[in-house]
Amino acid sequence: MTSTAAPDLRVLLVVGSVRDGRIGPVVASWVRDRLVEHGGLDVDVVDLLDVDLPASLDGSGDTEAWRARVGAADAVVVVTPEYNHGYPGYLKTAIDSVQGEWRGKTVGFASYGGAAGGTRAVEQLRPVFTECHVHSVRDQVVLPNVWELIGEDGTLDGERAEASAKAMIEQLVWWGSALRSARAAAAV
Ligand SMILES: Cc1cc2nc3c(=O)[nH]c(=O)nc-3n(C[C@H](O)[C@H](O)[C@H](O)COP(=O)(O)O)c2cc1C
Repeated sequence: MTSTAAPDLRVLLVVGSVRDGRIGPVVASWVRDRLVEHGGLDVDVVDLLDVDLPASLDGSGDTEAWRARVGAADAVVVVTPEYNHGYPGYLKTAIDSVQGEWRGKTVGFASYGGAAGGTRAVEQLRPVFTECHVHSVRDQVVLPNVWELIGEDGTLDGERAEASAKAMIEQLVWWGSALRSARAAAAV
């Protein structure tokens, strides 16, 4: 008997900061655990520090492999800090290095930083993804003063963000599933 269950939704979790001493991987690890807890998701974590993408966008380095990982995803979660009220420059290079692979996908955000918790970075990312034909889900994880949430063991205490993470992931799954069906029916 063949199973009629839908295959797991493929979620690409992007670690968007690459600077020395960054907190990004700690936040991403917490988000990954929330995605795994949800169940039914095939999570691919990509740390942009490990991806060689030329600022010239000439397609060299790891560009092809990066595009393939985006192409394989049904949905994306971007973990981003806020730098000078924006998002990291290398994250923009990563977004711009992709071509049609973004189209018809959905994206959710987990942001962190100082008082505003990275919200200003995400407000800038939303129109960028819209231009790439990517829908962005409404709810997002926001972690203000993130350094206060990291314990001596180096892990994040994200208790206050549990509800927003749940909302973001549920919306991501809804839109990701709907758009997967839509992409199968017609090219976008
Ligand atoms: C260059 C730079 C600019 C920053 N600007 C802001 C800012 O405008 N707003 C904010 O809330 N935090 C700001 N911060 C604090 C960062 O959000 C915080 O250090 C965060 O941990 C950075 O992410 P990362 O550790 O993964 O690189 C800035 C940090 C850096 C390094």
